[in-house]
Amino acid sequence: MRIIKNVKEMKEFTARAKESGKIVGLVPTMGYFHQGHLALMEKAVQQCDVVITSVYVNPLQFGPKEDFASYPRDLQRDAAMAEEVGVDAIFSPADGEMYPEGFDTTVSVGESLTNKLCGLKRPGHFTGVATVVTKLFNIVKPDKAYFGLKDAQQVLVIKRMVEDLNMDVEIIPVPIVRESDGLAMSSRNVYLTSEQRKAAVVLYQSLKLAEQQVKKGHIDAVEICRQVKEKINNEPLAELDYVEIYSYPDLKFIDKIEGRALLAVAVKFGRARLIDNIILEAQKDVSDSI
Ligand code: PAJ
Repeated sequence: MRIIKNVKEMKEFTARAKESGKIVGLVPTMGYFHQGHLALMEKAVQQCDVVITSVYVNPLQFGPKEDFASYPRDLQRDAAMAEEVGVDAIFSPADGEMYPEGFDTTVSVGESLTNKLCGLKRPGHFTGVATVVTKLFNIVKPDKAYFGLKDAQQVLVIKRMVEDLNMDVEIIPVPIVRESDGLAMSSRNVYLTSEQRKAAVVLYQSLKLAEQQVKKGHIDAVEICRQVKEKINNEPLAELDYVEIYSYPDLKFIDKIEGRALLAVAVKFGRARLIDNIILEAQKDVSDSI
């Protein structure tokens, strides 16, 4: 497996693959791999002839008070894990490669998708994501790119961008990978103390509670959010950031769950800010009275 550090070399690598008619897959990441990242790579290896994983902690998508400096990094460990699942190359550029002196262009996706959830709580975050992903697409020129539904809003933002800007890449969403107790895998889980780690299971439990309510026919979005908040607030180590429900995939405000809806939560445990979500599905003709 190759480790490529600069843009020129990366472009040459894909150009050679494409010349021989190969399907190129890209898995964009910020590294410090876990099974969630590996699931994306495995899917890419199944569907593509050549798979590239980018490992880049993108400064543009972090707020000034966020964890850019302390974000976990270990390229050697990542390289060994990626090689194991059949990745052909890791693209790991330096900041100077991605944002050279004079860099002054960003890509921002409209507010209907970005002025809520993590977009509202982390101003500029999705512009940072859209900009780096655009650059990665332009450098790697993948036929397919893989994104996890752990970051459901991110998938929607990237899909919108690709459609609006006529980018020639197919976006493949991949389901959330969880630990055996239900905690969604995340590079940020390493920030958790063992007590916080145990407490963090409340995220998944609260999502399952909501799912059960919808299955029973309760479709009042405000009431479901209230119950989810109550469940999370009952955990003393949890500090609630947001609990919200929107229609899915267009992220419109709803007061009743009809068809598909996204329930998304963000909760802090000490310095770890964890996010999770579930797609709720209600029958259109089900009502609270049944
Ligand atoms: P990162 O947080 O490293 O995640 C890389 C990819 O792995 C994302 O598509 C994310 O949704 C997916 N992922 C993370 N945890 C997952 C899990 N438990 N199950 C399934 N997929 C999971 O997301 C980013 O990096 C960045 O914003 C990036 C897109 C690379 C742009 O910088």
